[in-house]
Amino acid sequence: MAYTVPKLTDYSERALERAATECLSACLTDANSVRNSADLKVFRDRWLSRKGTVAQIKSAWLEDAPKDARKLVGFWFNATKDRIQQCLKETEDRLVQEVEAALGGNLPDRESVDISLPGVRRPIGAEHPVIKTTNEMVRVFQKLGYSVADGPVVETDYYNFEALNFPPNHPARDTQDTLFIAGQQGKPQRERLLLRTHTSPVQIRTMEKMRPPIRIVIPGTVHRNDPPDASHSPMFHQIEGLAVDTNITFGDLKGTLDHAMKEFFGSSVKTSFRPSFFPFTEPSAEMFVSCFICGGSGRRGEEPCRPCKQTGWIEILGCGMVDPNVFEFVKDNGYDPRKVSGFAFGMGADRIALLKYGVDDLQLFFQGDVRFLGQWA
Ligand code: PHE
Repeated sequence: MAYTVPKLTDYSERALERAATECLSACLTDANSVRNSADLKVFRDRWLSRKGTVAQIKSAWLEDAPKDARKLVGFWFNATKDRIQQCLKETEDRLVQEVEAALGGNLPDRESVDISLPGVRRPIGAEHPVIKTTNEMVRVFQKLGYSVADGPVVETDYYNFEALNFPPNHPARDTQDTLFIAGQQGKPQRERLLLRTHTSPVQIRTMEKMRPPIRIVIPGTVHRNDPPDASHSPMFHQIEGLAVDTNITFGDLKGTLDHAMKEFFGSSVKTSFRPSFFPFTEPSAEMFVSCFICGGSGRRGEEPCRPCKQTGWIEILGCGMVDPNVFEFVKDNGYDPRKVSGFAFGMGADRIALLKYGVDDLQLFFQGDVRFLGQWA
């Protein structure tokens, strides 16, 4: 209820005390009738707003006060104002306690969850384009009966090079091309650790564990000492394959890969095999697919086709028949080079993803910008 502030005529200490007491009891009565936050706002506005009771007291008491009484009047005004503010604070506290009591008064109840409210929806992540490409390619080989194998990214020289028939001074073993783990000089060369430069060491690791016949596909991360640019990255992804059995021929290699490429890129692509060299395959080849951008013509209307450099062909992978020297390292597990033969292949998943999705900068795959990656959501 509004309180009308009477004008002071008597400025004695007794008169001031009486005026203050009267005012405060009106304030307390008003505070006691506050029941909810709406009441509280009315109360606060009535007593403490710019034109509220406190402001009225100030003018009613101080404006006409004689000079020699001003100090005393000021003191009583300040004391009254402090008590009114305190009254507001106590009223606020009382309301909070009442709300808590209504909720049961104890902590667990206050923190209880209203299960009828809708939950917070978190956006679901999407497959990264390189992983998506890898999974699609792996699936093609799984449908042919291949199983998935993997191995460590930190590898020994033995598995990454020696057992794959790399000669001791092969340039790939140089720090120019390979990232070595520091502090390994004390160890014999074959035990020295490095970041695997290809997924081929998993060929050896799997043949040590599984007897022939085997058909495996090996997706994984590899590292090379290349500075990053639009088509290079010190970390990238490969998909490796290995099939070993009796009487596996180069015809099996060609038929398997031709089928896989038609399955992956579409039935109209053709494959082409050209001689190449890898220490662990003999003979070795590079496989090209007819350009799935220009259909093999090398042109897109008036424009030259850039992805295939106008050749109509795109290099996709390296492959070959497993070199008998490689089987020598796993001979004791059933891989007698006179009895078994096999083929292997390895491709760059990042490069295939670039071509497939028409991305012109490899670095975009590794910067983690959701504006880019969200396009695959
Ligand atoms: N490991 C080879 C590379 O990284 C690719 C390859 C794998 C070639 C298997 C032949 C057989 O370039």
